[in-house]
Amino acid sequence: MSGSGRATRRRVTVPGERPYDVVIGPGARHELGSLTSTVLDGTARAAVVHAPPLAGLAGGLVETLQTAGVAAEAVVVPDGEAAKTAAVAAGVWEELGRLGLTRSDAVVGVGGGAVTDLAGFVAATWTRGVRVVQVPTSVLGMVDAALGGKTGINTGAGKNLVGAFHPPVAVLADTDVLAALPEAEFRAGMAEVVKCGFIADPAVLDLLEADPTGRRDTEELIERAVRVKADAVGADLYDTGVREFLNYGHTLAHAIERVEDFGWRHGEAVAVGLVFAAELAGQAGLLTRAEVDRHARLVAAMGLPTRYTGDWERIQTVMRVDKKARGASLRFVVLDGIGNPRILADPDQAWLDAAWAAVGGGVPA
Ligand SMILES: NC(=O)c1ccc[n+]([C@@H]2O[C@H](COP(=O)([O-])OP(=O)(O)OC[C@H]3O[C@@H](n4cnc5c(N)ncnc54)[C@H](O)[C@@H]3O)[C@@H](O)[C@H]2O)c1
Ligand SMILES: [Zn+2]
Repeated sequence: MSGSGRATRRRVTVPGERPYDVVIGPGARHELGSLTSTVLDGTARAAVVHAPPLAGLAGGLVETLQTAGVAAEAVVVPDGEAAKTAAVAAGVWEELGRLGLTRSDAVVGVGGGAVTDLAGFVAATWTRGVRVVQVPTSVLGMVDAALGGKTGINTGAGKNLVGAFHPPVAVLADTDVLAALPEAEFRAGMAEVVKCGFIADPAVLDLLEADPTGRRDTEELIERAVRVKADAVGADLYDTGVREFLNYGHTLAHAIERVEDFGWRHGEAVAVGLVFAAELAGQAGLLTRAEVDRHARLVAAMGLPTRYTGDWERIQTVMRVDKKARGASLRFVVLDGIGNPRILADPDQAWLDAAWAAVGGGVPA
């Protein structure tokens, strides 16, 4: 069974110093075994890091590796953000020591973005860096978290403040596993996909307008979103330039997440942020009214939120301290026409107020 359907799977190479492939499609996880003769060549031991909900899947991958002659073991971590702590990382390091993992061995991260971020971080730091294969199981993981090489954990001071750039040697995005992903997580991940459509690939917008659930064209949508991220990462591994465009919709989204104490799903906050950013561009004369409206219409059709009513003063304060905002100025990724992102710094207050009103927020007189 291993390898069946291989030819029909989609492959995207993420360029860079050490290019790697993202394999997308049904059964992609079964290619883990064949990696032992390519990018995992020389691996004697491997740790398969996963959270309890993905235990069945991880167990299958442990067996696959064992069949290929690798002494593999599962390492269980807490689910979701609870995986991304220094204490959990320390626990995994102890496990790797117990398993006798050396520099020539490997880590496999299996799960949503939280677990792949942790697994990547542990791989980056164990013996100063062992190979990691990511097996993302959420849409967000497949199109965003598991590729690009950013890994990390959270601290009391904030999310993702401790981490390392450590690209995987391969990413296996098995769309079969999405069948078990909760619907709300699927939809939230699709917010990153539609974002990629707006900044770089209008075909994504057409596909989602034809089927806003994203179910009909899941593989093509994921492939296209992966290509957008791969292009940006290939040009800018260390996130100093074009990669910033991936933050379309994220300035407001990060503020909503913080003000709501991370009670919103990231993708849901991004959805509102896209509507907000579109209105800003409309105000700046960069998008037509029809292009602005296309954002809200599509985001709503996808079942994602387009409105957020909170404390505007507070949101603006938080947006100013967004770690990606570089200094005190307010920076937004906006579109100068669909598919053409650029930075808008310190927009007029009237434009900001109009964008806030567009997501349903009231503006004090
Ligand atoms: N490294 C990066 O570049 C990057 C980019 C974006 C996001 N992230 C990180 O990704 C994380 C969010 O990732 P996420 O949205 O995948 O959330 P998550 O990892 O918290 O997963 C969400 C939930 O879905 C469950 N789940 C995942 N796949 C499943 C499946 N196939 N079947 C059943 N349940 C499944 C998980 O167990 C979890 O309960 C955040 O920590 C964020 O900081 C990292
Ligand atoms: Zn995001």
